[in-house]
Amino acid sequence: MIELAPSILSADFAHLAEQVQAVAEGGATVLHVDVMDGHFVPNITIGPPVVASLRKVTKLPLDVHLMIENPDLYIPAFADAGANWISVHQEACTHLNRTLDHIRNHGANPGVVINPATPVHMLEEVLDLVDHVLVMSVNPGFGGQKFIPAALEKVRKLVMMRETRRANFRIEIDGGIGPDTIAAAVIAGVEILVAGNAVFGKGSPRENAQRLLKLATEATLQRV
Ligand code: DX5
Ligand code: ZN
Repeated sequence: MIELAPSILSADFAHLAEQVQAVAEGGATVLHVDVMDGHFVPNITIGPPVVASLRKVTKLPLDVHLMIENPDLYIPAFADAGANWISVHQEACTHLNRTLDHIRNHGANPGVVINPATPVHMLEEVLDLVDHVLVMSVNPGFGGQKFIPAALEKVRKLVMMRETRRANFRIEIDGGIGPDTIAAAVIAGVEILVAGNAVFGKGSPRENAQRLLKLATEATLQRV
Protein backbone atom coordinates (compact mmCIF):
# COMPACT_ATOMS: atom_id res chain seq x y z
CA MET A 1 0.00 0.00 0.00
CA ILE A 2 1.26 3.45 -0.95
CA GLU A 3 1.10 6.07 1.78
CA LEU A 4 1.65 9.80 1.62
CA ALA A 5 3.26 11.34 4.72
CA PRO A 6 3.11 15.13 4.51
CA SER A 7 5.97 16.76 6.41
CA ILE A 8 4.64 19.48 8.67
CA LEU A 9 8.03 21.22 8.46
CA SER A 10 6.65 23.20 5.52
CA ALA A 11 3.21 23.79 7.09
CA ASP A 12 1.98 27.02 8.64
CA PHE A 13 2.71 26.36 12.32
CA ALA A 14 0.12 28.90 13.40
CA HIS A 15 -2.57 26.85 11.65
CA LEU A 16 -1.30 23.36 12.18
CA ALA A 17 -4.62 21.75 13.11
CA GLU A 18 -6.38 23.00 9.96
CA GLN A 19 -3.47 22.03 7.74
CA VAL A 20 -3.37 18.54 9.21
CA GLN A 21 -7.07 18.15 8.62
CA ALA A 22 -6.70 19.36 5.05
CA VAL A 23 -4.04 16.77 4.17
CA ALA A 24 -6.05 14.02 5.84
CA GLU A 25 -8.98 15.00 3.60
CA GLY A 26 -6.58 14.84 0.67
CA GLY A 27 -5.81 11.20 1.45
CA ALA A 28 -2.66 11.44 3.59
CA THR A 29 -2.50 8.50 5.98
CA VAL A 30 0.63 9.39 8.00
CA LEU A 31 1.98 12.67 9.35
CA HIS A 32 5.74 13.19 9.15
CA VAL A 33 7.21 15.24 12.00
CA ASP A 34 10.79 16.53 11.59
CA VAL A 35 12.70 17.02 14.82
CA MET A 36 16.01 18.91 14.52
CA ASP A 37 18.43 19.89 17.27
CA GLY A 38 20.86 22.35 15.67
CA HIS A 39 23.69 19.84 16.20
CA PHE A 40 23.07 16.78 14.06
CA VAL A 41 21.60 19.08 11.42
CA PRO A 42 21.99 22.84 10.99
CA ASN A 43 18.42 23.75 11.92
CA ILE A 44 16.14 23.70 14.96
CA THR A 45 12.48 22.73 14.83
CA ILE A 46 10.11 21.21 17.34
CA GLY A 47 10.01 18.90 20.34
CA PRO A 48 7.63 16.68 22.29
CA PRO A 49 5.10 19.45 23.20
CA VAL A 50 4.20 19.94 19.53
CA VAL A 51 3.82 16.18 19.07
CA ALA A 52 1.49 16.13 22.10
CA SER A 53 -0.59 18.96 20.59
CA LEU A 54 -0.79 17.20 17.23
CA ARG A 55 -1.90 14.05 19.00
CA LYS A 56 -4.98 15.89 20.23
CA VAL A 57 -6.09 16.99 16.78
CA THR A 58 -5.46 13.94 14.59
CA LYS A 59 -5.80 10.18 14.59
CA LEU A 60 -3.22 9.77 11.82
CA PRO A 61 -0.07 7.92 12.86
CA LEU A 62 2.68 10.38 13.78
CA ASP A 63 5.96 9.50 12.06
CA VAL A 64 8.61 11.25 14.13
CA HIS A 65 11.93 11.66 12.29
CA LEU A 66 14.63 12.42 14.84
CA MET A 67 17.52 14.40 13.37
CA ILE A 68 19.20 14.78 16.74
CA GLU A 69 22.25 13.67 18.64
CA ASN A 70 21.76 11.30 21.60
CA PRO A 71 18.25 10.26 20.53
CA ASP A 72 18.01 7.73 23.40
CA LEU A 73 17.59 10.61 25.82
CA TYR A 74 14.45 11.87 24.08
CA ILE A 75 12.73 8.70 22.85
CA PRO A 76 10.61 8.30 26.04
CA ALA A 77 9.33 11.88 25.81
CA PHE A 78 8.35 11.52 22.14
CA ALA A 79 6.69 8.16 22.78
CA ASP A 80 4.76 9.59 25.74
CA ALA A 81 3.72 12.56 23.60
CA GLY A 82 2.02 10.16 21.18
CA ALA A 83 4.58 9.35 18.47
CA ASN A 84 3.54 6.12 16.72
CA TRP A 85 6.69 5.69 14.65
CA ILE A 86 10.09 6.94 15.73
CA SER A 87 13.05 6.86 13.38
CA VAL A 88 16.68 7.57 14.20
CA HIS A 89 19.66 8.22 11.97
CA GLN A 90 22.21 5.44 11.63
CA GLU A 91 24.84 8.21 11.65
CA ALA A 92 23.65 9.54 15.03
CA CYS A 93 23.58 6.23 16.91
CA THR A 94 26.68 4.58 18.35
CA HIS A 95 24.55 1.72 19.70
CA LEU A 96 21.91 1.53 17.03
CA ASN A 97 20.71 -1.93 18.03
CA ARG A 98 20.03 -0.73 21.58
CA THR A 99 18.35 2.46 20.39
CA LEU A 100 15.94 0.54 18.13
CA ASP A 101 15.05 -1.76 21.03
CA HIS A 102 14.54 1.28 23.20
CA ILE A 103 11.99 2.66 20.70
CA ARG A 104 10.06 -0.63 20.57
CA ASN A 105 10.12 -0.96 24.35
CA HIS A 106 8.46 2.44 24.56
CA GLY A 107 5.60 1.24 22.38
CA ALA A 108 6.54 2.93 19.10
CA ASN A 109 7.47 1.39 15.75
CA PRO A 110 11.21 1.75 15.19
CA GLY A 111 12.67 3.04 11.93
CA VAL A 112 16.21 3.73 10.79
CA VAL A 113 17.28 6.58 8.49
CA ILE A 114 20.32 6.95 6.25
CA ASN A 115 21.78 10.14 4.85
CA PRO A 116 22.67 10.42 1.16
CA ALA A 117 26.34 9.60 1.87
CA THR A 118 25.58 6.44 3.88
CA PRO A 119 25.44 3.16 1.93
CA VAL A 120 22.54 0.77 2.53
CA HIS A 121 24.88 -2.04 3.57
CA MET A 122 25.41 -0.16 6.86
CA LEU A 123 21.92 -1.37 7.76
CA GLU A 124 22.48 -5.09 7.21
CA GLU A 125 22.51 -5.95 10.91
CA VAL A 126 19.37 -4.02 11.82
CA LEU A 127 16.97 -4.82 8.99
CA ASP A 128 15.15 -7.38 11.12
CA LEU A 129 14.71 -4.89 13.96
CA VAL A 130 12.93 -2.08 12.12
CA ASP A 131 9.44 -1.50 10.79
CA HIS A 132 10.65 0.98 8.20
CA VAL A 133 13.83 2.18 6.56
CA LEU A 134 13.89 5.85 5.59
CA VAL A 135 16.17 6.79 2.71
CA MET A 136 17.06 10.48 2.69
CA SER A 137 16.95 11.91 -0.82
CA VAL A 138 18.33 15.28 0.38
CA ASN A 139 20.82 16.14 3.08
CA PRO A 140 18.60 16.62 6.13
CA GLY A 141 18.00 20.00 7.69
CA PHE A 142 15.65 21.88 5.42
CA GLY A 143 12.55 21.50 3.32
CA GLY A 144 12.38 22.46 -0.32
CA GLN A 145 15.73 21.01 -1.44
CA LYS A 146 16.48 19.27 -4.72
CA PHE A 147 15.98 15.50 -4.97
CA ILE A 148 19.21 13.45 -5.12
CA PRO A 149 18.56 10.72 -7.74
CA ALA A 150 21.15 8.29 -6.29
CA ALA A 151 18.59 7.60 -3.55
CA LEU A 152 16.62 5.53 -6.06
CA GLU A 153 19.42 2.99 -6.42
CA LYS A 154 19.51 2.67 -2.65
CA VAL A 155 15.78 1.95 -2.63
CA ARG A 156 16.25 -0.76 -5.27
CA LYS A 157 19.03 -2.34 -3.21
CA LEU A 158 16.83 -2.32 -0.11
CA VAL A 159 14.05 -4.07 -2.02
CA MET A 160 16.52 -6.81 -2.97
CA MET A 161 17.91 -7.08 0.56
CA ARG A 162 14.39 -7.42 1.92
CA GLU A 163 13.61 -10.24 -0.50
CA THR A 164 16.84 -12.10 0.23
CA ARG A 165 16.29 -11.92 3.97
CA ARG A 166 12.53 -12.33 3.89
CA ALA A 167 12.35 -9.22 6.07
CA ASN A 168 9.22 -7.11 6.55
CA PHE A 169 10.33 -3.49 6.81
CA ARG A 170 8.70 -0.88 4.63
CA ILE A 171 10.66 1.64 2.58
CA GLU A 172 10.16 5.37 3.02
CA ILE A 173 11.80 8.25 1.15
CA ASP A 174 12.23 11.84 2.34
CA GLY A 175 13.39 14.95 0.51
CA GLY A 176 12.55 16.62 -2.79
CA ILE A 177 9.49 14.46 -3.44
CA GLY A 178 6.99 16.24 -5.68
CA PRO A 179 5.11 15.81 -8.96
CA ASP A 180 8.38 15.34 -10.92
CA THR A 181 10.01 12.76 -8.65
CA ILE A 182 7.22 10.82 -6.98
CA ALA A 183 6.66 8.29 -9.77
CA ALA A 184 10.35 7.35 -9.95
CA ALA A 185 10.40 6.76 -6.19
CA VAL A 186 7.36 4.49 -6.36
CA ILE A 187 8.72 2.56 -9.35
CA ALA A 188 11.99 2.00 -7.44
CA GLY A 189 9.98 0.43 -4.62
CA VAL A 190 9.11 3.17 -2.11
CA GLU A 191 5.94 2.57 -0.08
CA ILE A 192 5.85 5.67 2.14
CA LEU A 193 6.41 9.06 0.52
CA VAL A 194 7.29 12.08 2.62
CA ALA A 195 6.55 15.44 1.00
CA GLY A 196 6.79 18.85 2.62
CA ASN A 197 7.14 21.66 0.14
CA ALA A 198 5.08 19.88 -2.54
CA VAL A 199 2.15 19.61 -0.12
CA PHE A 200 2.31 22.84 1.92
CA GLY A 201 4.47 25.13 -0.27
CA LYS A 202 1.79 26.70 -2.41
CA GLY A 203 -1.82 26.14 -3.36
CA SER A 204 -4.20 23.93 -1.43
CA PRO A 205 -2.58 21.26 0.79
CA ARG A 206 -5.65 19.05 0.32
CA GLU A 207 -5.47 19.19 -3.48
CA ASN A 208 -1.69 18.86 -3.50
CA ALA A 209 -1.92 15.72 -1.38
CA GLN A 210 -4.62 14.31 -3.64
CA ARG A 211 -2.59 14.97 -6.78
CA LEU A 212 0.58 13.43 -5.35
CA LEU A 213 -1.27 10.33 -4.21
CA LYS A 214 -2.85 9.94 -7.62
CA LEU A 215 0.55 10.14 -9.33
CA ALA A 216 1.99 7.67 -6.82
CA THR A 217 -0.84 5.19 -7.21
CA GLU A 218 -0.64 5.36 -11.01
CA ALA A 219 3.11 4.73 -10.82
CA THR A 220 2.58 1.41 -9.00
CA LEU A 221 1.34 0.02 -12.35
CA GLN A 222 4.80 0.66 -13.80
CA ARG A 223 6.64 -1.34 -11.16
CA VAL A 224 8.48 -4.32 -12.58
C1 DX5 B 1 14.51 17.32 5.65
C2 DX5 B 1 13.31 16.72 6.32
C3 DX5 B 1 12.20 16.48 5.39
C4 DX5 B 1 11.66 17.71 4.73
C5 DX5 B 1 11.20 17.33 3.36
O1 DX5 B 1 15.54 17.42 6.55
O2 DX5 B 1 13.64 15.47 6.91
O3 DX5 B 1 11.16 15.71 5.96
O4 DX5 B 1 10.62 18.31 5.41
O5 DX5 B 1 10.80 18.47 2.70
P1 DX5 B 1 10.62 18.54 1.14
O6 DX5 B 1 9.57 17.55 0.76
O7 DX5 B 1 10.23 19.95 0.92
O8 DX5 B 1 11.96 18.19 0.51
ZN1 ZN C 1 11.95 14.10 7.53
